[in-house]
Amino acid sequence: MEVIVKKKFNVYIIGASGFGREIESWISLSNNFKNRFLIKGYLDDNIYALDSYPSRYKVLGKIDDFQFQKNKDFVLLAIADPTIKESIVGRLKNKVNFLSFIFSNVIIGKNVTIGEGTIIAPNCVLSTNINIGPYVTINLGTHIGHDSTISDFSSIMANVDISGSVKIGESVFIGSNATIVPRIIIGDKTKITAGSIVLNNLPEYSFVFGNPAKKMSKPIIKPRIFLSSPHMGGAEQKYIQDAFDSNWIAPLGPNVDNFEDSIVKYCGVKYAAALNSGTAAIHLALILLGVDRGDEVIASSLTFSATLNPIVYLGATPVMVDSEPGTWNICPETLEIAIKSRLSKGRKPKAIIPVHLYGMPANMEKIMEIANRYEIPVIEDAAEALGSRYNDKQVGTIGKIGILSFNGNKIITTSGGGAIISDDKELITKARFLSKQAREIAPHYQHTEVGYNYRISNILAGIGLGQMEVIDKRVIQRRDNFDFYKKNLGKIEGISFQEEPDNSFFPNHWLTTILIDPEETGKTWLELQAELEKENIESRPLWKPMHLQPIFSTFPAYLNGTSEELFSKGLCLPSGSNMTEKDRMKVLNTIINFFTK
Ligand SMILES: Cc1ncc(COP(=O)(O)O)c(C=O)c1O
Repeated sequence: MEVIVKKKFNVYIIGASGFGREIESWISLSNNFKNRFLIKGYLDDNIYALDSYPSRYKVLGKIDDFQFQKNKDFVLLAIADPTIKESIVGRLKNKVNFLSFIFSNVIIGKNVTIGEGTIIAPNCVLSTNINIGPYVTINLGTHIGHDSTISDFSSIMANVDISGSVKIGESVFIGSNATIVPRIIIGDKTKITAGSIVLNNLPEYSFVFGNPAKKMSKPIIKPRIFLSSPHMGGAEQKYIQDAFDSNWIAPLGPNVDNFEDSIVKYCGVKYAAALNSGTAAIHLALILLGVDRGDEVIASSLTFSATLNPIVYLGATPVMVDSEPGTWNICPETLEIAIKSRLSKGRKPKAIIPVHLYGMPANMEKIMEIANRYEIPVIEDAAEALGSRYNDKQVGTIGKIGILSFNGNKIITTSGGGAIISDDKELITKARFLSKQAREIAPHYQHTEVGYNYRISNILAGIGLGQMEVIDKRVIQRRDNFDFYKKNLGKIEGISFQEEPDNSFFPNHWLTTILIDPEETGKTWLELQAELEKENIESRPLWKPMHLQPIFSTFPAYLNGTSEELFSKGLCLPSGSNMTEKDRMKVLNTIINFFTK
């Protein structure tokens, strides 16, 4: 009589090329597996991957497009390349269960542990006291000796002989027929080519071949850890697709309107005009306040040049003001000294531009009090500070006008873009008008003012809409990076952080920046940057103050020494919201090693 067992779980094989086909054949020989699991098919980023192989199962679609049922669906990782495995596990970890498959004839000794998502092919022998991590692949006929460890994501190909007490790091690849002699330690990400005989320990990222195994002359490039790279939320492509489907490819369209609405809601401001850059937003803000040739505009000196460039576009003079030590932003006392000095020369500044540097709110209460007293409008440069609050108000909404940037490295990005925000309807209406070539309402093309081509496109606004869905998460992630660095580096003598002076400041911590005191540590930011670079980790010095820049050095500046001191000590650390725990640990360990060696 035939016994029919109800199959409870679905299994998808990830990877439809050669290794997937091998796994398919092993499964077909395993009644135990077939009784419990129903193979639904393959998933692969290349949906034609199976074309060259006959198979019982189809490629059902691309890995990221597939909708899994968390309680029912399992995947088998039929991938040999450790880096690809890492990427797939990162993408699917919370969406689906990873199944381990150990062929029934594998000999397993005492005290062997095997992690999830691991595949062990027929004819392997695992001796005693062995620890095999998750997402490991062990191909046909491989032998693993006693007391050995194979760490996460590593792939050991066919007929490899690993002797006793060997330690294999994470994401190591060992080619077929290689031999590893006893007690060898192999560092993470190492590649050992087929047939190699490994007689010596190998540091991480080694690439070896031959008997005895020697280093290849071409080093493996360590994957770069970026300062702040774009981090998509997932919905962006849907909004872009909407634009394509409705043929709203040309400038403006529903994505722009909706993006502006989402900015208005999130910032708690009445009006927003989405533009093609933060620099364009500053330029228009200055025009809206009537800044013209010969006028003066006060701006923070410690900033990116884009804060000052538009002042010069208009033929006006930037007057630079130094920072305060607490927030690193424009110093209220020095600001007032500057205003008094300009007034005494008969030159009343037309605007003040405080900057919320690296997401830290400027000291807005004092700045607004001074600005109101002297009746000078404030343009807040919140390019780096979406999600930062001062006294519970989104920065950029406290002065008369605020500007935001959605440049590629900002907390959210439209690849390039910006916005001008204000509670003043007339100002924002005028900004929209100027940003569309100042075209008057008329049956023909009519212009009475100089216009600009500064609007964002409907496509880029679609990216912005997707990004606005995850802005809260991004703020949490960036702030968590800051807490992580602070907790782990804060005790090193001579390192300090850009910390909020009190709880009226809520920074988004766009970039975590540290100050390194050369006297206390005996080291400089430049040396740390070089050390990080050796590990392919990007970092960046603090903005060089504008009064030190050749292009602005002839303009008036009111200084107190703070920005120069910050510049001499500061380094911005990798702060992306998409950094993995492993990335953060790597940056941290590199910094700790640097300071303790
Ligand atoms: C402080 C500051 N202001 C202005 C800008 C200009 O923004 P965008 O690059 O969008 O023109 C940036 C960023 O690039 C910035 O960091």
